Amino acid sequence: MQRVESEIARLIKEINYDEVSRLFGMLSGGKRLRAKLILKIASSSEKAPLLAAIVELIHGASLLHDDVIDEATLRRGVASVNATDGSKTAVMLGDILYSKAFTELVAFERDIARIIASSVTALSKGEMMDVKMAGEFNANEEKYLDMLYLKTATLIEASAEAAAILAGKDVSSHALYGRNLGLSFQIIDDILDITSDAQTLGKPSMNDFVEGKCTLPYIYLYRVLNDDEKKKLVSLHAKVLDEQDALWIRKKMQEHKTIEKSFELAEKLSNEAMNAMKDDVELVNILQTMIKRSY
Ligand code: FPP
Ligand code: MG
Repeated sequence: MQRVESEIARLIKEINYDEVSRLFGMLSGGKRLRAKLILKIASSSEKAPLLAAIVELIHGASLLHDDVIDEATLRRGVASVNATDGSKTAVMLGDILYSKAFTELVAFERDIARIIASSVTALSKGEMMDVKMAGEFNANEEKYLDMLYLKTATLIEASAEAAAILAGKDVSSHALYGRNLGLSFQIIDDILDITSDAQTLGKPSMNDFVEGKCTLPYIYLYRVLNDDEKKKLVSLHAKVLDEQDALWIRKKMQEHKTIEKSFELAEKLSNEAMNAMKDDVELVNILQTMIKRSY
């Protein structure tokens, strides 16, 4: 991973603007999941650290914009750029990072450049759908999973796919691995939003629903509630929950096992990904560690 960090530092230096270096230095790098995947899949390729750095810059740019859109004050445990330096600066820093990433992408073969570039259109579409869907209660599972795929899974899928091309490995099984890893990662994130406490999350528990996001445990709950209860759940959507209402939702979720049902889907998706990568112990380990996050 050190080689990826060096590539990122080199690209930031090439931007040749102190203000960008200062702001970038304030960001926390995060888990670097996409970079790790690229390095693992394309360990044989000299170009893997650069591809990983490009993808991390794109991911970083998308989070800068996302925090402006979500008006978030915290990112990866530190104050967001929009909170410290304002939204305009956060948008411009995002623009600089992803355009620099695209400039570097030109050095890769056409298929790789196309896969990464088109995944950014997909993730931007996913973000727009997410914002639009938060405006009203959504009980449609398929619609939710389509949005999740675009917003979170496409860049991970594209990373695995592009790395497979770079390494001359099977493209479709790696794409499936990346897609299912991304989806199950996000479903587990949605579960943790409900099951973890505020201290662990660094934000209030059940914040997704307060922000209007009807994640799988809420969608599954809506289906099994009676008419009066359905009305109650919809009336609580996108509002700050008092303790009693939060408790009612949790109790109903427990009664109808909707967290377990959501977890089963995450597990099913990750088992499919593991089967696609049976012979690759390291890729299977990434999935297993991720599934364990939810315990
Ligand atoms: C986090 O979602 C957001 C994303 C994974 C994607 C955001 C994408 C864009 C803003 C499109 C623009 C793209 C570029 C390259 C500038 P979340 O809000 O559900 O998760 P969070 O809790 O981490 O904020
Ligand atoms: Mg956000």
